[in-house]
Amino acid sequence: MKVLVTGATGRTGSEVVKALLQRGVDVRALTRKQPKPGTFPSAVEIALGDLTDPVSTAEALKRVDKLFLLIAGIPDEIVQALTAYSLAKKAGLRQVTYLSVYQADKFLEVPHFAAKYAVEEAIRAGRMPYTILRPAYFLQNERGLKAALTGAGVYPIPAGNRGVAVVDVRDIAEVAAISLTEEGHEGKTYDLVSSDMLTGLGAAATWSKLLGKEITYGGHGDFDSFEARMRKTGNPMRETASPMLWLAHDIRLMFEGFVERGFRNTEDQTARVAALLGRPPRTYSGYAEELATEWLQRELQPVG
Ligand SMILES: NC(=O)c1ccc[n+]([C@@H]2O[C@H](COP(=O)([O-])OP(=O)(O)OC[C@H]3O[C@@H](n4cnc5c(N)ncnc54)[C@H](OP(=O)(O)O)[C@@H]3O)[C@@H](O)[C@H]2O)c1
Repeated sequence: MKVLVTGATGRTGSEVVKALLQRGVDVRALTRKQPKPGTFPSAVEIALGDLTDPVSTAEALKRVDKLFLLIAGIPDEIVQALTAYSLAKKAGLRQVTYLSVYQADKFLEVPHFAAKYAVEEAIRAGRMPYTILRPAYFLQNERGLKAALTGAGVYPIPAGNRGVAVVDVRDIAEVAAISLTEEGHEGKTYDLVSSDMLTGLGAAATWSKLLGKEITYGGHGDFDSFEARMRKTGNPMRETASPMLWLAHDIRLMFEGFVERGFRNTEDQTARVAALLGRPPRTYSGYAEELATEWLQRELQPVG
């Protein structure tokens, strides 16, 4: 069986590629540029293509059986997703696993949530077997916070205090691979959440303990300044990010929603993820510990 993975060079897609290879699946990775040597294991077939170009997308979909569909954080998400989906259907693929977002239908004022919900509905209404994954806030976002945490000592994400559900991209990838290789996942929508939730004050306390210094919570009272900062410096949840003005506003709306209404998960949802994985999902505290160890070890390494 061969699976086309979109977003294959990104945070989630690269883990999906690994998880599929581990399950003995043939993988074709879609990317816009020839990847640098070593980006993928040699077994991975590269398809050069662009989801804004239906011809190159159709070419990438030839002679594959299934599709893992991830669209980057871009304004024409719905166009790219439905283009790839319709071409996959036309090419006779047997399944699509689509990466949406947790509570896609509850935050319709946020453009990227509304786009994902529209794509979900089109996939549900279409006649192609599907699995929809609804991941919560990626734990890996915290990698982008290194400078703020180890430098100024501020937890800068306005997460609020109601609770934001989280998930590790490695767990998303494992569920994606399970959905594409095992029976019983057709027509299912899976909420992908961990057991612990993020709050601004809770995160500051976690990082204070792990980094051995006081980390304060930046608060959630001034979304104008939060958006203005993102307009200048880009998405704080990415290690390298160029400013995207529409995204600054989109992320602002998302966190305003989280602060007002929360983005909480339930114990039942966590139990369902554990049942899919056959183990408990990775946690915020566990990932924060991994990151802190990596950052502190790097600091201790002799220079030269
Ligand atoms: N961050 C969160 O907390 C969170 C939570 C839930 C859902 N999500 C969703 O997760 C997705 C992002 O996942 P990620 O962070 O793993 O992605 P990422 O690391 O930002 O990678 C984006 C990928 O998209 C590819 N790409 C971009 N434009 C493309 C185009 N025109 N044609 C083909 N490929 C293109 C890039 O490939 P090349 O550059 O190699 O072409 C890259 O592999 C978004 O849909 C976001 O809404 C994020």
